[in-house]
Amino acid sequence: MSDSALLIAAIVVVVALAALFVFTTAARRDRAAALRGGEDGPGTDGPGGTAGTGEAEQSTGRDIERAAVLEHQSDAALAAAAATAPAVRAPMDPEVLDVTRRQFMNRGITAFFGLGVGGFSLAAISFLWPSRSGGFGSKVNVGKIDEIVSQITSKREPFYVPEARTWLTTYPKDAVAKAEGVYTGAVLEGMEAGFVALYQKCVHLGCRVPWCAGSQWFECPCHGSQYNRVGEQKAGPAPRGLDRFGVSISGDSIVVDTQEVVQGPPTGTDTTGQGAEGPHCA
Ligand code: FES
Repeated sequence: MSDSALLIAAIVVVVALAALFVFTTAARRDRAAALRGGEDGPGTDGPGGTAGTGEAEQSTGRDIERAAVLEHQSDAALAAAAATAPAVRAPMDPEVLDVTRRQFMNRGITAFFGLGVGGFSLAAISFLWPSRSGGFGSKVNVGKIDEIVSQITSKREPFYVPEARTWLTTYPKDAVAKAEGVYTGAVLEGMEAGFVALYQKCVHLGCRVPWCAGSQWFECPCHGSQYNRVGEQKAGPAPRGLDRFGVSISGDSIVVDTQEVVQGPPTGTDTTGQGAEGPHCA
């Protein structure tokens, strides 16, 4: 399992444990609050409590007496009044029908915390998840072979692919035999197809290395490292040639695989024999 996959799994586990802890704590508090409410007796101070019911009973009795006098103390009228007397309400269950301020706050804080942690986790996972649909970290379709070669030839400079952070340049056919002793895998296959994809990052301290139109080399402005057209180190503090990516041909297009950075060749490698073709930039 890769480092990023382990990191994602660890984040998911931590978030799940945090959410479980918060929810169980909130549920425990709710239960405790409900039990306290039950012991205190919800009917004593609530709107449907015992005091209110007693007053209702006294008031109803007076009404019944008054009704009985008004109806000439008729036994039949008294019986009818008793039959229509209001029923005493049972106290409501606060757990079901009522939400205390404490419960409301607990639930609100839990929801807020859960949403925050969930949003952060999603953002972290999406940031760490390797892209498979294009861009750096995936296979990038650079474009049609003819158009790219034509552009490289007419402008006399490598083709820059920003989404792959790559300089794509041609590799001379007559140098492939020499390259076979130095390069391997998809990098060598790309050279055999006539292309090299160079990572734009300087292998000294990581500056972006631009192309120098004068020397026809790559020259780093930070500390002066220089690399020939195919990224082999020529001068400066860089410890090796430019790192690179595998290249493949798909139909009439070139594909650069940026999922794996291949370390550049050791200092002193020179498979093309290209010297500086003009004034240096760095
Ligand atoms: S970062 Fe390029 S030479 Fe130092």
